[in-house]
Amino acid sequence: MDTEATHVLLVGGTGRFGHQLASALLSRPGIHLHVLVRPHTRPESLEGLADQGVTLVEGSLQVARSLDSAVEGMDVVVSAVRGGHDVMVEGQLRLLHAARRKGVMRFIPSDYSPDYFALREGEDPRLDWHRHVAEAVVDSGMRYTFVLCGAFMEVALSPAAHVFDLERGHVAYWGTGDEPFDVTSMNDVARFVAEAVTDRRAENRRVELVGDVVTVNDVARRYEALTGRQLQRVCRGTVEDLRRHLARASAPVDAAREGLVQPHLLIQLAGRGRLQDPDADAFARRHPLSVREYLEAMLRPWMASPGEASLPAHP
Ligand SMILES: NC(=O)c1ccc[n+]([C@@H]2O[C@H](COP(=O)([O-])OP(=O)(O)OC[C@H]3O[C@@H](n4cnc5c(N)ncnc54)[C@H](OP(=O)(O)O)[C@@H]3O)[C@@H](O)[C@H]2O)c1
Repeated sequence: MDTEATHVLLVGGTGRFGHQLASALLSRPGIHLHVLVRPHTRPESLEGLADQGVTLVEGSLQVARSLDSAVEGMDVVVSAVRGGHDVMVEGQLRLLHAARRKGVMRFIPSDYSPDYFALREGEDPRLDWHRHVAEAVVDSGMRYTFVLCGAFMEVALSPAAHVFDLERGHVAYWGTGDEPFDVTSMNDVARFVAEAVTDRRAENRRVELVGDVVTVNDVARRYEALTGRQLQRVCRGTVEDLRRHLARASAPVDAAREGLVQPHLLIQLAGRGRLQDPDADAFARRHPLSVREYLEAMLRPWMASPGEASLPAHP
């Protein structure tokens, strides 16, 4: 019933993770979902949203007035945006201030990341942005939930993370390749966030979700065992070299311009940002996807007919 529904505004619902989050929110009873869409959004990015009972609201993080009307009457604002400083910091702060002015109860910023609270300023400038926003959220007095999940499995195991290029048969590593990292599937994170928006126990805290903990060598060995194909391992340097590379490569101006730097796996391989206290209860009721299951699902078509299908790289 609408009078009892939780009204949720999702910003970034046309993005890769945001789209999964929209589906997860739509599958929860008692949620009325509004999605902010930019005026020139391509129709294909709205696929499946418009015809599922979602209220589409036109606006942009760049236009404060559009945010005031978008947050009006909302109980929770969830952000899944990605971009440069203008989006991740300036835009999200504009959204936060609109939400506070209009009496929204809870704000969930676009984190879905390793533990940026544990990093020193400058260690990874893009993750500094997350911390700056989180501090502003706490200072605003609004209720909040910060969602930390290590790296997304789908991104960490793809060439975008600059470590695995399974299609070409390469793995690049720093240190020994035995440095552990936290990884969680987007779908598991999306389902968790969808539950958290109506769960008061998720208020005013950071939630740490971990689907699996693996090393570069673990992933390579699992892939090799499943395919019988040997990956070529390339050592890129020491962990110290990686730290220097990250601080340089993710300088905000380059990241914003090139959109290339994906720090969520690399920072962990540098031994930083690992989750300290994963929330055992968060996944107690479900079985989060493991890396082994992810690789098996990815390789299933090839395993069914290894001679015919080509080896898939990643989804
Ligand atoms: N842990 C990990 O390994 C990992 C990996 C990837 C991403 N992430 C995180 O997940 C979140 C989402 O990332 P993603 O890869 O799904 O992003 P994405 O696919 O690039 O989508 C970005 C979204 O932000 C929206 N957006 C950008 N600028 C906007 C503005 N000015 N006003 C309103 N909306 C705007 C885009 O809208 P349009 O469709 O209109 O452009 C789109 O919906 C980010 O916090 C990112 O850091 C984590």
